[in-house]
Amino acid sequence: MSIDAELLLALRSAGDGAVSGVELSERLDVSRAAIWARVEELRRLGYDIEASPHRGYRLLNAPDLLHADDLLARLTRTKVIGRDIRVFQETTSTNDVIEKLAHDGVKEGVVVFAESQTRGRGRLGRKWLSPPGKGLWFSVLLRPDFRPQATTQLTVAAATALARAVQAHTGLAPEIKWPNDLLIAGRKTAGILTELSAELDHVKHVILGLGVDVNLTAREFPPDLRKVATSLRIETGQPVDRAELAAAILRELDRDYARVCRGQFEAVADEWESRCTTVGRDVVIQVGERRIAGRAESLDADGALLLRTQHGHLERVTGGVVTLERGE
Ligand code: BTN
Repeated sequence: MSIDAELLLALRSAGDGAVSGVELSERLDVSRAAIWARVEELRRLGYDIEASPHRGYRLLNAPDLLHADDLLARLTRTKVIGRDIRVFQETTSTNDVIEKLAHDGVKEGVVVFAESQTRGRGRLGRKWLSPPGKGLWFSVLLRPDFRPQATTQLTVAAATALARAVQAHTGLAPEIKWPNDLLIAGRKTAGILTELSAELDHVKHVILGLGVDVNLTAREFPPDLRKVATSLRIETGQPVDRAELAAAILRELDRDYARVCRGQFEAVADEWESRCTTVGRDVVIQVGERRIAGRAESLDADGALLLRTQHGHLERVTGGVVTLERGE
C-alpha cells in the first residue's frame, strides 16, 4: 500500500478519534515531516484533516471524488477484486482501459474507475451516459478458470453483488431485470456490460463493466431517458457517498466472485432469482432476429435463463432484450 493509502487507513480506523504524528510516523515508517507533507497534499484534494499539536490528526470529511489510495484503504480485506485500483479523470471507456491492461498481462482483480467516459457503452452497442462525478463508471478484470459458456455466471454474480451493496448502502430495494439491469421502482439505475476474450474451450479474460447512476438529478438525464432511468440520489432524496458505495460494491463483488470460483454458483443464483423481476413472468426476448416468448422459469448451472415456451419446450437464453408481457 502507498503512504497515502496507509495514512487514510490509519485515520479511518481511528474513527472520530485522532492519531498522533509519532504513531503515524512509526506505523508508516516515514518521518513526521513526510506525514505532514502527505496530509497537506490530501487537504489540497479536499480531505478535511484536522491537525492538533497535542492530539494529532483526525479525518473530519472526505471530498466527493474517487481516489485510488482512499478506495484501497477501504478495501483491506478483499482477496482478489480491488487489490489494484486505478482512477482516471476521463477515459473513452473503462472497459477499453481494462482490455489494454489484460493484454499487458496485469493480474486479475484490477479495477479501473473513471470520473467520466467519453465513449461509455452499454449492451447491444448502446451509448452509456457517463457525466463527470455523477456516477460510478468502472470495470474489473477477471481471469477465471472457466469454459466460455460459464461466463454468464459472472454477470449474474455481479448483478447480485451490486443489488446487495446498493440495498445495504441506501436502504432501497433494487430489483434485477434479466440479464443485468438494476431497477429501482421500475426504472433503470445501473447496468453491467460483460466482455469476454476466450479460446474455444477456455476463458482468457473477462471484463465486467459496471455503470451506476448515483448522483444524477432528473434534469441531468436526457429527456428520452427520464421515464425509464433513475439515480440513487433521486430515489433516496439525498446525495449518496460514491466512494463508500464503490467500496461496498467491490467488497460484495469480491465475495460473490469467490463463491462462483469455489463452485457455489447455485447459492448466488438463488439470491439472484429472489431479486429478479423477470423470473416467474411471461416475457418476450428478442435475440437478434429471433423472438422467443415464454415464461421465465429459472437460471441454469451456467447462468443462462430458462424459458418455458407456449409449446412446453425449455429454451436456454444467454442474451437479448427482454420485455415483460402486458398484464403481468
Ligand atoms: C448496460 O446496461 O447496457 C450496460 C452498461 C454498462 C456501463 C458501464 S460504465 C463502465 C463500463 N464502461 C463502459 O463503457 N461501459 C461499462
